[in-house]
Amino acid sequence: MYNKEDKILIIGAGGQIGIELVQELSLLYGSSNVIAADLKPIEALEVNPFEKLDVLDKDALLGVIKKHKISHVYLLAALLSATGEQNPMFAWKLNMEGLFNVLDLAKEKHISRVYWPSSIAVFGPTTPRINTPQYTVMEPTTVYGISKQAGERWCEWYFHKYGVDVRSLRYPGLIGWKSAPGGGTTDYAVHIFHEALKNKTYECFLSADTALPMMHMEDAIRATIEIMHAPAENIKIRGSYNLAGISFTPEQIAAEIKKHIPDFTITYKTDFRQDIANSWPQSILEDEARNDWKWSAKYNLPSLVKNMLQNLA
Ligand code: NAD
Ligand code: SER
Repeated sequence: MYNKEDKILIIGAGGQIGIELVQELSLLYGSSNVIAADLKPIEALEVNPFEKLDVLDKDALLGVIKKHKISHVYLLAALLSATGEQNPMFAWKLNMEGLFNVLDLAKEKHISRVYWPSSIAVFGPTTPRINTPQYTVMEPTTVYGISKQAGERWCEWYFHKYGVDVRSLRYPGLIGWKSAPGGGTTDYAVHIFHEALKNKTYECFLSADTALPMMHMEDAIRATIEIMHAPAENIKIRGSYNLAGISFTPEQIAAEIKKHIPDFTITYKTDFRQDIANSWPQSILEDEARNDWKWSAKYNLPSLVKNMLQNLA
């Protein structure tokens, strides 16, 4: 259910998710109705209107919203887990103030709907790591995870207090071939394909047996669009919904790649990202997303690997 009259603003459109989301939403709304905003111009998105925008500048953000008569904002600008640990105070500032700026403009009725992604990083080492449910212990240990957990609570608060129609997904690590990842702990699962095709070998910064939930970007984009187009009464969780994706280890994805590139090899040299990965779930349950807005993913590990290799080749 979507209204062709809606006008969309995607903030952080030049990032891993933004590029693909702009392209998919443009198919639905028309590219002139999907405005891409980022700190710098985006080569991959030449056909969409572009606004150079810092989401921390609330006046400039309001100016863009008024100029284009925006109804829906997708807020993707953030520092991710690995870069966040290297610049913790700025990660907190960007991840929280950016969200407040958008939620406040929704509260003031300048926009009618907000999408803001959360992450598996909201969980922590005290969370049950296998089949992590929607509701459980959550003690994140990264600045990124703390900002996402706080963001979830604020989204829910703005919904209850001011009726802000904000929707959110806890993405697993995302794997796509159209855009590069931007500084997360799950980035290895994208880099591995590029290196497999170019050099037939990859040095992984996580250990062989580190299981994490991951998802093909196509599924993630479809989930994003489906939750944003679901009837408001179906969105029963205004914090953020678990998405399960596919759980695998570096060793398992390497074995799947070897089925296509038999002489591919993987080596392991762990760094600070190993500790981050160790604090996250290995697998996740998504019953609420399935029940409330009928979510169902399409990709499994073999089809994800085949799709990535075919498209990147
Ligand atoms: P990314 O780092 O690839 O892209 C972020 C974009 O935001 C970049 O193009 C950057 O230039 C832009 N940006 C940064 N600061 C900005 C500012 N002040 N104003 C405007 N734009 C700014 O990130 P991504 O992977 O596309 O992630 C997008 C969102 O999804 C983030 O909130 C992230 O936490 C969340 N998420 C991503 C993943 C993943 O695996 N990619 C998983 C879980 C959650
Ligand atoms: N893919 C993200 C990261 O690794 C998870 O939110 O930071």
